[in-house]
Amino acid sequence: MLLRAADIHKSYPGVQALKGVSLELQASEVHALVGENGAGKSTLIRILTGAETPDSGSLDIGGETFAALDPELARRLGIAVIYQQPALFPTLSVAENLALRCEPSGLWRRVDWRARRERARSLLERVGAHIDVERTAASLSAAEQQLVAIAAALGVQARVLILDEPTACLPEHDAERLLDLVRTLRSQGVGLIYITHRLEELFGLADRVTVLRDGESVASAALADVDIGTLIRWMVGRELLATPRTESSGRPEVALSVSGLGCRAGGLSEVSFELREGEILGLAGLVGAGRSELARALFGLTPAEAGEIRLGGETVTIREPRDAVAHGMAYVPEDRRRHGVVGAMSTVVNTSLAVLERVSRNGFLQPARERALAEPLARQLDLRAASLEAPVANLSGGNQQKVALARWLAAEPRVLIVDEPTQGIDVGAKAEIHRILGELAAAGKAILLISSDLPELLALSDRVAVMRERRLVAILPRAEAMQEAVLALALGHREGVAG
Ligand SMILES: Nc1ncnc2c1ncn2[C@@H]1O[C@H](COP(=O)(O)OP(=O)(O)OP(=O)(O)O)[C@@H](O)[C@H]1O
Ligand SMILES: [Mg+2]
Repeated sequence: MLLRAADIHKSYPGVQALKGVSLELQASEVHALVGENGAGKSTLIRILTGAETPDSGSLDIGGETFAALDPELARRLGIAVIYQQPALFPTLSVAENLALRCEPSGLWRRVDWRARRERARSLLERVGAHIDVERTAASLSAAEQQLVAIAAALGVQARVLILDEPTACLPEHDAERLLDLVRTLRSQGVGLIYITHRLEELFGLADRVTVLRDGESVASAALADVDIGTLIRWMVGRELLATPRTESSGRPEVALSVSGLGCRAGGLSEVSFELREGEILGLAGLVGAGRSELARALFGLTPAEAGEIRLGGETVTIREPRDAVAHGMAYVPEDRRRHGVVGAMSTVVNTSLAVLERVSRNGFLQPARERALAEPLARQLDLRAASLEAPVANLSGGNQQKVALARWLAAEPRVLIVDEPTQGIDVGAKAEIHRILGELAAAGKAILLISSDLPELLALSDRVAVMRERRLVAILPRAEAMQEAVLALALGHREGVAG
């Protein structure tokens, strides 16, 4: 056994995040850790890596028992964690980043550059990454950054490797490669703890699974013995019924019409499409195809210089987000943790940010109105927060994303642009968000949906627009929007006709 956490408790003011969680990890094991948003997964990981001190419980690692760890001790015990966005120094080269992580700090001054580069190369080889070690970390893709972080973990002889939602923002292809690497590391004797909300990923990957619910470990089982339905029941404590998308009312009015849109900063050119009231238009494409850039151009974050945007039949000029909001547009950005919420402010305040005039009187904010706005939305999104008054930064990752959505739902927009609305969101809340998007469309809202989760995109969209290399290359009606067709267009294996 590599590691055993037994009966771990951890409280924060107002929240009991962990109420007696236990977990055992063997060498050469991939141990999945799953649970709803706020179940306590990341808190447990922070305890295992010494970033947090548990209130009680014990940690057995390599034959020794500890009441708590600190980061230095955890590192010496061979425990490493890889997050979605690993902390690399952006301006330093890959070789330097690896050296900083792996070399004892005393040696940092007398540098043998050749040896350092060689070492970096051989570490990257072990993780199957073909990356020039002279490149700066800033120039790497998300997937490449993760590979460098994993290489660094191997460089310090990590025996326990923890991955917290590693594939959440990786494109399909990179995600597959990462999963292959996980299997390789397992065969080399590493024990891996793997956190994900993409439950399908676990089959054929994980050996065991531990399920957390409301801070308790409710089940631990061999993955061969469970199916996805059982996992979900353990996670949410009930059956989930997939709600089929209610057919949109098909109102004929065009809500948003874009023709010949071009934006130098976003690299976009000649983008044309129409979005009707009551319609969900899915935007598919590989990462870097220009989907988020299009959203940002429409919302005035990187305004377009060419082409025409019409909202409700009226030609509008959108120079900044304020113009977009004034014309009834709302935008839930992809990187919600950075742009979607104000961490230091409460859920209540975040929710009312887009509609300040509705919650104020004579220029003064009315806290009661703010609450009245936030409460039903929090309930609808099943927000798990100790209090709606607590800073959003203290919420679990998935719950922060729900706050970002609540903020724009409060604005009751005519045109809603949502970028990756269910990334990092648990199965229960995901079904809820699908239902909400369907209802908004049924109520006549026009929705532009960006999602890298292709099955989700195809299930929700009335039509699917495919982007490639910052152009909109095709628009497919629902009946033709099959997975293979969309992928072939996105990859450029097939030519499409926009329109
Ligand atoms: N620093 C903190 N202060 C106060 N509460 C916290 C803090 N960190 C976590 N919590 C609370 O502890 C609970 C567990 O959060 P945690 O981040 O471990 O969830 P999670 O399972 O990782 O969820 P997700 O899937 O959304 O990432 C949540 O209710 C969260 O709000
Ligand atoms: Mg988490």
